Amino acid sequence: MDNNRYSSNRPRRKVSRRTYRNRRLAALAIIALLVLILIVLIANACADGKDKKKPADSKTASTMTTTTTVTDAAIVTTSTTTAVATVPKNDSDFKLDRQTISIMVGESDMPRVLEYPEGTVEADERWTSSDKEIATVDSYGHITGVAPGVCYVILKSAADLNQEVMIKVTVRGEASDEDDDTTTKPQSSRTEAPAPPVHDTEGLTYIDGILLVNKEYGVPATFEPKLEQICYDKFNELSTAAAKEGLSIYISSGYRSYKDQETIYNNYIEDEKKKGNSESEAKKIVDTYSARPGYSEHQSGLCIDVNTINDAFGYTPEAAWLAEHAHEYGFIIRYPQGKEAITGYQYEPWHIRYVGSKVADKIYKNGQCLEEYLNVG
Ligand code: DAL
Ligand code: ZN
Repeated sequence: MDNNRYSSNRPRRKVSRRTYRNRRLAALAIIALLVLILIVLIANACADGKDKKKPADSKTASTMTTTTTVTDAAIVTTSTTTAVATVPKNDSDFKLDRQTISIMVGESDMPRVLEYPEGTVEADERWTSSDKEIATVDSYGHITGVAPGVCYVILKSAADLNQEVMIKVTVRGEASDEDDDTTTKPQSSRTEAPAPPVHDTEGLTYIDGILLVNKEYGVPATFEPKLEQICYDKFNELSTAAAKEGLSIYISSGYRSYKDQETIYNNYIEDEKKKGNSESEAKKIVDTYSARPGYSEHQSGLCIDVNTINDAFGYTPEAAWLAEHAHEYGFIIRYPQGKEAITGYQYEPWHIRYVGSKVADKIYKNGQCLEEYLNVG
């Protein structure tokens, strides 16, 4: 019996030259195969990385849960989303000032290009409309409403045709006060959201049954309605509808008391002073984005800041959806773009105010801000 199988003294079997060559070829083939597998794995990993950098395509799927916490100061709702989203495609490095446009028939508007893809200039812009019977677009990006409906305007770069961004265009017909034909209205606006509650607390200003709170018309420090139930309920309907589109819209700030607003305003003043501004300079700056205590709509219990109070929110599909659908639930974008001189505040795509669906619908269709609608200031 061989007790020494692994001994180095064991005589080696003689291998023919041919067998030796075949073994070498086999070894080389295995190495080549391994290298090939490695290359394929690396290529796949790179492709994954690229996809992650791109914004979502026109369809996204995820899962939704909603949590609601009611506190004295505010109601906070957090949502993650489920279902399938339909949002304008933006696989490019074009950056626009907005991705949705809403115009009346015969009216024109033009999205501004804030950033171009690398190696691309203004002259490379190529604008097309997905449906010229709804809206046309010229070579500069002027979009004109032709007939009521929704279509997309596409901006491509002639220098790189893969660079493409879509703008959702909603064209509305003539607004009419007496229009009670619900057949063309979205499903959600058929059940009318009632008018907000009317308080007889001294010192409140109502015009046509609408509580007006702005820089001129304040509310008493003692007015503490908390977040109005109708505002909260309608917001939940809005948030649920958005979730069905795969979008997450939640409350970041609802009712704020006089004291809450005082703290917020004073903190902003301190922040601006830390940047080197004098007291009066700080006030001037803060007054463009924060209300003084007693003059914040948040004290009315009829408004909500959604998601993040950051300019970047304006570029999200949630902001685009909100701008197009808030009125169906009785809300308006309270401080719209282009109305800064009237409202006295910077554009706030996240701040929605409950006015009831009848008023919201008119304000939306007329493209007005609340002050214009109420004919004040
Ligand atoms: N940001 C709004 C104007 C407020 O402070 O009420
Ligand atoms: Zn707000």
